[in-house]
Amino acid sequence: MGVTPWRWMVAGTVVLALSACGSEPAPTPAADGTAPQVSEVQARSLYTRKCSLCHGDDGKLMASKSPDLSLSTMTLAERVALITYGKGTMPAQKGALNKAEITAVAKYIERFRD
Ligand code: HEC
Repeated sequence: MGVTPWRWMVAGTVVLALSACGSEPAPTPAADGTAPQVSEVQARSLYTRKCSLCHGDDGKLMASKSPDLSLSTMTLAERVALITYGKGTMPAQKGALNKAEITAVAKYIERFRD
């Protein structure tokens, strides 16, 4: 008698179906409902898009009467507040960036300090 060809076809289908299950796990959102962590690459791109216009890629441009960020002595909390709500010509980012993005950008600009 021996094994009929259709049995091999069924066995092959089962193996394919099982191997399709090994995909990557879905990203889990943070427990408090905020967006997942923002990477340094993302922070740099946010800074370039939202901040370089006035502060420049190195924080020293000082356009639109903005201060030299490399000389800033503000704490992280102060920077987060200022970036969130804006001040004078400095635009508020509240509607444009979420909390995690604002914190990431506030940390990113620390690299400009001498
Ligand atoms: C339209 C120009 C403009 C843009 C765009 C801008 N800023 Fe500013 N920024 C300013 C000005 C003007 C001030 C000074 C505000 C004041 O004290 O009156 C300032 C102040 C700051 C300060 C405070 C520095 C200090 O120690 O006094 C930080 C930090 C800062 N900006 C970060 C950012 C970041 C991060 C972004 C992007 C999300 C950004 N800025 C986008 C104009 C800008």
